[in-house]
Amino acid sequence: MAATLIKGAEVAAQIRAELKQEVDELKAKHNLTPGLVTILVGEDPASVSYVTAKQKTSHELGFYSVQDNQPPDITEEALLKLLDKYNNDPKIHGILVQLPLPKHIDSNKVLYAINPDKDVDAFHPVNVGRILIGNYAFLPCTPAGCQELIVRAYGDPKGKECVVVGRSNIVGKPMVAIMIQKRQGANATVTCVHTGTPKDKMIEHCRRADILVVAAGVPKYVQADWVKEGACVIDVGVNRIGVSEKTGKAILAGDVDFDAVKEKASFITPVPGGVGPMTITMLMKNTVMAAKLNAGLIKI
Ligand code: GUN
Repeated sequence: MAATLIKGAEVAAQIRAELKQEVDELKAKHNLTPGLVTILVGEDPASVSYVTAKQKTSHELGFYSVQDNQPPDITEEALLKLLDKYNNDPKIHGILVQLPLPKHIDSNKVLYAINPDKDVDAFHPVNVGRILIGNYAFLPCTPAGCQELIVRAYGDPKGKECVVVGRSNIVGKPMVAIMIQKRQGANATVTCVHTGTPKDKMIEHCRRADILVVAAGVPKYVQADWVKEGACVIDVGVNRIGVSEKTGKAILAGDVDFDAVKEKASFITPVPGGVGPMTITMLMKNTVMAAKLNAGLIKI
């Protein structure tokens, strides 16, 4: 039986409608307008398109939003000074520095200079620690989007076997931290497999998964015979595997062999149109949380 497609764009639109209502209420009741700055260094085409999409969505939700473009040769010192300005700007509640940064800049030094309460990417060590402890305001956007899709499509992960393929700081590790939380929407039994896991063990672990989250960075990596009948499969991969002769646009594939795996899974995210649309929406959610945190409407 073919799996039900998890349509990320539809879920994202639903969450954005809920957020819009919340933003309208924050404005009316608390005179509070969430503020987001996205900082782009250089003109990498993929980064330009991501940042443009983030700005567009924040405008649609009625945020105060600032796009700050910096030249590719900006010094680390100047970038740190810029962050200091936004850390102290009361109209800005969320700061996002688009990655990757040019090689002459130490990305960690930059990310660690963001005020943790304005760190809407949740990459700062303080936020990473808060998440592990289980007392946090923000979750990293991509794994948080995966969790929303799992809960809304598949249901409560409590007690389920969740296997995460990949251990990046942006997806794999925070995905593990999210799914092991002792709270609603999590409470799963979690295994993480990665490049250090022997292939036969990796397959063995994947076959046990009720929920399989794949962020391996390898096109069509996970095969149908790795997947348990009825599993919920979340594919985080976005790989350019060619160019369409018809449209000239990139042909994308996820990290899962979609056509074969969809015959075994009960739910599966397509690429594109699965996890992707959720990431920006979770950034918007984090910015609303940051505004509320700053105004004292919530506490960590
Ligand atoms: N570049 C690719 N993904 C991300 C992300 O989630 N956050 C930031 N800041 N940059 C990125």
